[in-house]
Amino acid sequence: MRILVTGGAGFIGSHLIDRLMHQGHEVICLDNFYTGDKRNISHWFGNNNFELLRHDITDPIKLEVDRVYHLACPASPVHYQANPIKTIKTNVLGTMNMLGLAKRVKARFLLASTSEVYGDPLVHPQSEEYWGNVNCTGIRANYDEGKRIAETLTFDYLRQHNLDVRVARIFNTYGERMQENDGRVVSNFIVQSLRGKPLTVYGDGSQTRSFCYVSDLVEGLMRLMDSDRTEPVNLGNPGEYTILELATTIQKMVNPNSEVIFNPLPQDDPRRRQPDITRAMQWLDWKPLVPLEEGLTRTIADFRTRIIGN
Ligand SMILES: NC(=O)c1ccc[n+]([C@@H]2O[C@H](COP(=O)([O-])OP(=O)(O)OC[C@H]3O[C@@H](n4cnc5c(N)ncnc54)[C@H](O)[C@@H]3O)[C@@H](O)[C@H]2O)c1
Repeated sequence: MRILVTGGAGFIGSHLIDRLMHQGHEVICLDNFYTGDKRNISHWFGNNNFELLRHDITDPIKLEVDRVYHLACPASPVHYQANPIKTIKTNVLGTMNMLGLAKRVKARFLLASTSEVYGDPLVHPQSEEYWGNVNCTGIRANYDEGKRIAETLTFDYLRQHNLDVRVARIFNTYGERMQENDGRVVSNFIVQSLRGKPLTVYGDGSQTRSFCYVSDLVEGLMRLMDSDRTEPVNLGNPGEYTILELATTIQKMVNPNSEVIFNPLPQDDPRRRQPDITRAMQWLDWKPLVPLEEGLTRTIADFRTRIIGN
């Protein structure tokens, strides 16, 4: 098949491309390199099945493809808050353009949505039936509401044009090729620890998150794409850890001498996040397989090479 991956030079997109290329598909990677990096995909340069397009999805484009994995969007608060209006344009105009592209050539379309559509959730764990608790005027709203409207658009293309759609609600994912400076909790702690700096915990560290290793997530995305389910599906690791637990785990693994310090909690930071993955288990026969310490070992090794060089 010929498969378009928008945001393919980013963290998750580049791992997805690796899997699709190994399966023998023709892959078009489309990216504007806002947060993506050519090094993430440079190992495919020169391969006849691989094509790289520098393009911003807020501008329309016509391509002949069988499937679209739509991932293009900055994913970390540091990056999506740097230019909030651009983030909204990417989620709204960009998603409309990619849905239009898929409609024209009758391609199957998968939206990379997010657990942020649940906002600061009032029910735990979050199942796909939960409608969420999002502050539409807060500093995270450009991303959260942007993704919510991207989902709305996707389902309107299904209802109005019978487009073949899939929607993955992705929970925190980590692994090799995360950016050093993206402010996400796993990369922050690893980078701080490797540099011998204190690990910064926001609040008292009792807020919880779940962490899914990237190979598990990519497997889930591919199974969802191959399934016949058009409803949203949560993809994430249900194992719940406090931020303080994560900090001390990484501290022990990288540099037991580094210290942990506490800073004020940012606005609208969710207290708890934990996916209910019943749908993914029943519909896709999927569940995460890589334990946190194993995933962290691989991620730390990758950061160590990039930061220290050995
Ligand atoms: N990583 C996570 O934990 C997580 C969690 C939930 C949802 N997601 C979603 O998964 C997708 C990929 O996330 P990621 O972690 O790989 O982030 P990332 O920032 O590494 O990748 C996003 C990619 O999209 C590209 N991009 C951004 N705006 C663009 C535009 N206007 N036109 C073309 N390309 C553009 C960036 O250059 C980058 O390569 C995103 O849609 C994100 O919202 C990620």
